[in-house]
Amino acid sequence: MATARVIFFLGFALLSCSLIGASRGLENRRSLFLPILNNDTKVFDVTKFGAVADGETDNVDAFRAAWGAACKNSTSRAKVLIPEGTYRTAQTMFAGPCSSPKPITVEITGTVKANTDPSEYVSPEWFTFQDIDGLVLTGRGVFDGEGPAMWPFNDCRQTKSDCAPLPSSLKFYKVNNSVVTGITSLNSMQFHFHVHGCSNVSLSKLNITAPGNSPNTDGIHISSSDMIKVFSSVIGTGDDCISIGHSTTNLTVYNITCGPGHGISIGSLGKRPEERSVNGVTVTNCTFVNTTNGARIKTWIGTVAAEVKNVTYEDIIMKDVQNPVVIDQNYGSRLSREPSTSVWKLSDIHFRKIKGTTVSNIGVSLQCSTRNPCEGVEVADIDLGYAGRLNTTFISSCSNAKPIFGGMLNPPPC
Ligand SMILES: *[C@@H]1O[C@H](CO)[C@@H](O)[C@H](O)[C@H]1NC(C)=O
Ligand SMILES: *[C@@H]1O[C@H](CO)[C@@H](O)[C@H](O)[C@H]1NC(C)=O
Ligand SMILES: *[C@@H]1O[C@H](CO)[C@@H](O)[C@H](O)[C@H]1NC(C)=O
Ligand SMILES: *[C@@H]1O[C@H](CO)[C@@H](O)[C@H](O)[C@H]1NC(C)=O
Ligand SMILES: *[C@@H]1O[C@H](CO)[C@@H](O)[C@H](O)[C@H]1NC(C)=O
Ligand SMILES: *[C@@H]1O[C@H](CO)[C@@H](O)[C@H](O)[C@H]1NC(C)=O
Ligand SMILES: *[C@@H]1O[C@H](CO)[C@@H](O)[C@H](O)[C@H]1NC(C)=O
Ligand SMILES: *[C@@H]1O[C@H](CO)[C@@H](O)[C@H](O)[C@H]1NC(C)=O
Ligand SMILES: *[C@@H]1O[C@H](CO)[C@@H](O)[C@H](O)[C@H]1NC(C)=O
Ligand SMILES: *[C@@H]1O[C@H](CO)[C@@H](O)[C@H](O)[C@H]1NC(C)=O
Ligand SMILES: *[C@@H]1O[C@H](CO)[C@@H](O)[C@H](O)[C@H]1NC(C)=O
Repeated sequence: MATARVIFFLGFALLSCSLIGASRGLENRRSLFLPILNNDTKVFDVTKFGAVADGETDNVDAFRAAWGAACKNSTSRAKVLIPEGTYRTAQTMFAGPCSSPKPITVEITGTVKANTDPSEYVSPEWFTFQDIDGLVLTGRGVFDGEGPAMWPFNDCRQTKSDCAPLPSSLKFYKVNNSVVTGITSLNSMQFHFHVHGCSNVSLSKLNITAPGNSPNTDGIHISSSDMIKVFSSVIGTGDDCISIGHSTTNLTVYNITCGPGHGISIGSLGKRPEERSVNGVTVTNCTFVNTTNGARIKTWIGTVAAEVKNVTYEDIIMKDVQNPVVIDQNYGSRLSREPSTSVWKLSDIHFRKIKGTTVSNIGVSLQCSTRNPCEGVEVADIDLGYAGRLNTTFISSCSNAKPIFGGMLNPPPC
């Protein structure tokens, strides 16, 4: 990793560009008279900053220059445009705070492909958007992580405790009040989207695609974030379609089609002692097709107590799903069917109106902690064909491996 050419865009990009200069006079005069009402958006096309759409040239310098001019040096509202064509780029950071008026837009209509030399990445991200209030990332373009070239280097299968993760395609860190919409993420090296330390971000109309057997290619991983909304997207990948990490609050997910993949999972949680509680997750109107899991909550045994509370999965359709409804507090343990002693506490958890088919004989599998029994687990209006029909089963305290419901009409509450 010594030769990494990571470029952090924290400073001003000191590039002179005659095209920008040309319209500057008019704009300054306008903003002199209309300092607040001037909402014209100025376009910073990466090709005007030297980007070459030949699919080979590394464009990181051109992307940096365009972002710098837009975010740090524009007095009018700015848009960075990655137009039609195929652009290669190594590790790239778009960092704020921006001095241009909000929002700042990044529009992609072309395809961006990741550099496939692992030594080019000093940290596990390909594109990072950081410290931005009011980002709009949009367009029908594609971020292609070139996963097939990178997956052989994946070192992070579940059993490994120490590993160097491959880069996520799109990392959002300390991004607030922002919108990500329309884009396609193809074959990420690791996570497609990674949202961390963010607040009030909506992600919609995304197309997230990687093969069902690709390693750790979670569609959207969210952690340490508040008020994130994910909706109206199609996610087919090799790991969780959406994975919800620690310290996530007030997350809303709806109208997602997931498959192939491992479902929409809260967790895994508690692998590391610094992981804090998850509070407030609502997943509605989603369809799972040919996934290994559907609605899942998974915690490790853990060492530091924390909670998962106020979770609702409702109006969910399962098609050929292996494990439609899962609470697994023995995650990562070889004794996966044994009672758990997890220090994590689950409460106020609702699985409602879940219909469809499974390809196993287990519809609902709840393995709660014996040390901290789950409280207020509601499993209501479940119809998973031969694997289980349950209605309005309210489980007030659930503490062992018994409630694995399969092929039963009226399973005993635990
Ligand atoms: C920044 O703006 C100034 C004046 O508006 C312009 O002369 C200069 O070229 C710009 N620099 C960049 C990097 O865009
Ligand atoms: C600029 O403001 C006008 C009037 O408020 C509005 O109609 C227009 O949509 C705005 N344009 C942009 C790009 O925000
Ligand atoms: C985002 O919001 C957090 C508080 O939620 C704040 O600490 C941080 O400075 C904000 N970041 C930006 C770039 O505005
Ligand atoms: C969330 O961000 C959007 C812009 O994307 C903004 O319009 C809205 O007011 C923000 N909501 C809150 C509660 O700040
Ligand atoms: C998603 O993107 C992939 C790859 O570009 C494409 O093959 C597929 O048709 C797209 N799916 C949708 C639903 O747009
Ligand atoms: C289900 O997903 C697996 C793994 O991705 C794949 O091999 C299989 O072809 C898929 N089956 C159907 C019916 O789509
Ligand atoms: C659900 O998401 C799909 C895209 O996957 C979109 O075409 C459709 O309009 C959305 N439905 C609703 C009700 O928003
Ligand atoms: C987010 O969740 C926390 C705890 O669940 C709550 O106290 C807070 O008011 C919520 N914020 C919003 C904006 O909903
Ligand atoms: C539960 O979480 C939702 C967001 O998912 C939030 O709107 C609601 O206020 C929360 N309820 C409580 C009691 O915290
Ligand atoms: C879910 O779908 C139903 C109709 O199937 C609709 O009435 C409801 O508004 C949708 N809810 C969300 C959050 O999309
Ligand atoms: C569960 O009960 C509701 C009404 O309480 C009913 O509409 C639904 O069909 C029932 N579901 C099953 C699977 O029996």
